Amino acid sequence: MAADLPQLTDEQRKAWSAGDFAAFAPQLLEPSEQLCESVAARAGQLVLDVGTGSGNTALAAARRGCRAAGLDFVRPLLARARERSAAEGLGLQLVEGDAQALPFPDETFDAVVSVFGAMFAPDQERTASELLRVCKRGGAIGVTSFPPSGFAGELFRITARFAPPTRGAQPVFRWGTRDGLERLFGDGAVSVDVRTRHFRLRFLSNQQGAEVFRTAFGPIGMVFSKIGQGRQARLEEALTEHVARYNEAGGGSAVVPVEYLEVIVRKG
Ligand SMILES: C[S@@+](CC[C@H](N)C(=O)[O-])C[C@H]1O[C@@H](n2cnc3c(N)ncnc32)[C@H](O)[C@@H]1O
Repeated sequence: MAADLPQLTDEQRKAWSAGDFAAFAPQLLEPSEQLCESVAARAGQLVLDVGTGSGNTALAAARRGCRAAGLDFVRPLLARARERSAAEGLGLQLVEGDAQALPFPDETFDAVVSVFGAMFAPDQERTASELLRVCKRGGAIGVTSFPPSGFAGELFRITARFAPPTRGAQPVFRWGTRDGLERLFGDGAVSVDVRTRHFRLRFLSNQQGAEVFRTAFGPIGMVFSKIGQGRQARLEEALTEHVARYNEAGGGSAVVPVEYLEVIVRKG
């Protein structure tokens, strides 16, 4: 069935707007800092962060002296990024826009980064080609994504079991396999390096972990809003059990290792 990409994009924008993602985003600081190291972000470089949310990766680049811009399609998240940038005196440029149609000329940035952002856009080929287009020749595109295995991959699969089918949606895991990434970036890249990394999520308890996914992750919150009370309770229970399975902390709190891919694409 043909995908209605503009409609899917609009649904996703509403989903990411619904949750309080900014409250959760500090848990993702580590992959942002690591990605800026991996693309060797240096003072004076122009860096674009796609799907910046409340600004994590753009801020990490700006702290390294880069002239950083953050793009997202959720205005309230950009407002949070602006507050954080002002608090640190970093002068981020913040732009409302869609990862599938970046509002920048060809070959503008020394590095284009995206931490768990670009992977969610419905038109995956278009998004990958936009990241390549706005990057200078010889520059780097650094992306993090979730593989099908591990905590996040299983989280998506659990949630998908409860979600009404989305017409025409492409599988998000294409960004999470070496093969899929090579097909997305292959033609425009001189190299696609993929490595597996981990970061840790921390919650007050297994149950609070499930609660955070419901309230802070727009797409998961959206699934809750579309199902009846009985299924809501079963999804909440499945998420709590999922956090518990991965929890490596004792004493009632939760520490969850999350496997992710860090992808560095060199543009030829
Ligand atoms: C998991 S959050 C990550 C946010 C941020 N990179 C971080 O590490 O905190 C995904 C972000 O991608 C944004 N996003 C998803 N699809 C997008 C699209 N098509 N265009 C622009 N932003 C998008 C969402 O609004 C959200 O802020």
